[in-house]
Amino acid sequence: MILAIETSCDETAAAVVRDGREVLSNVVSSQVDLHAEFGGVVPEVASRAHLDLIVPVVRQALAEADVRPADLTAVAATHGPGLVGALLVGVSAAKALSVAWNLPYVGVNHMEGHLFATLLERPDLPLPAVVLLVSGGHTLLVEMREPGRYRLLGSTVDDAAGEAFDKVARYLGLGYPGGPLIDRLAVTGDRTAIRFPRGLLNEGLDFSFSGMKTAVVNYVRKHPDADNADLSAGFQEAVVDVLVTKALRAAESVGAASVCLGGGVAANSRLREVFAERITEAGLTALVPARSFCTDNAAMIAAAASWRLANDGPTPLDDGADPSLRLL
Ligand code: KG4
Ligand code: ZN
Repeated sequence: MILAIETSCDETAAAVVRDGREVLSNVVSSQVDLHAEFGGVVPEVASRAHLDLIVPVVRQALAEADVRPADLTAVAATHGPGLVGALLVGVSAAKALSVAWNLPYVGVNHMEGHLFATLLERPDLPLPAVVLLVSGGHTLLVEMREPGRYRLLGSTVDDAAGEAFDKVARYLGLGYPGGPLIDRLAVTGDRTAIRFPRGLLNEGLDFSFSGMKTAVVNYVRKHPDADNADLSAGFQEAVVDVLVTKALRAAESVGAASVCLGGGVAANSRLREVFAERITEAGLTALVPARSFCTDNAAMIAAAASWRLANDGPTPLDDGADPSLRLL
């Protein structure tokens, strides 16, 4: 029974998970409104908000799970990658609780958490799996041969997919965070009205999104009256096409049995639809986890912690937070 804390960016989250898969509570307090007026996450604002929220969020996670400290096996926290001031709040809280309650502490890599979100949803996932991990900071294609055994197949050479959504939304004056706003607006637009270029579509497994963002800017300069809904739908269609094409190519290259989605951008409705359709058409198992397990949450951190604790043991208390911690 693991209590896990996630504070790597702008969500303060805590969860209780039994046996690495049974989610007893999964509390996420988003700071999105605090950062919206600045058009992006302000690290200092995030750290201060985590400080205010961490105790109530942990209390709520324990209450919703109906467990007491004596029922717990370990306390875990994301120890990187992320914003260092934000990470330190969760790491310090988890260590303090582990000392107070005499429990082991487990530091978890945030990206490994995103990978475990797939197993949390489907413990019998056919392996090897290819996971398309798309968030505000990362765009990765990862081969998961088994938990703990990963290989990087592709990544972005410039912007992350979520970053591209956010930048295009800002340019169009839609607001922050851009992904969900483009997603919503695209529903009312015509996705075939404007065809944007698909960066690196026919080459390898790496991604490039900055040219696609520039293409939107150039289009709007030439057509100042272009409809934001059509622009959103066309841009989203181009990003989704590239993401799914490369995920399929990666799956074929390693002979994967299943292909999974993860990360904040995996909440995108068009991506979920096209991903499931094309992966299934190719005769592979497509796993599209619930949105609450795709965006940042602590249940996925607890799932990864459970496996790490069983395989590597506890993390020493003098181990800190590492903003650029690598998984692969
Ligand atoms: O994984 P995440 O919650 O945080 C990290 O970056 O680790 O991902 C946040 C990113 C943001 O760029 C946001 O715009 C994007 O995920 N996002 C979406 C959607 N929901 C969130 N992008 C496209 N469509 C969405 N519905
Ligand atoms: Zn994340």
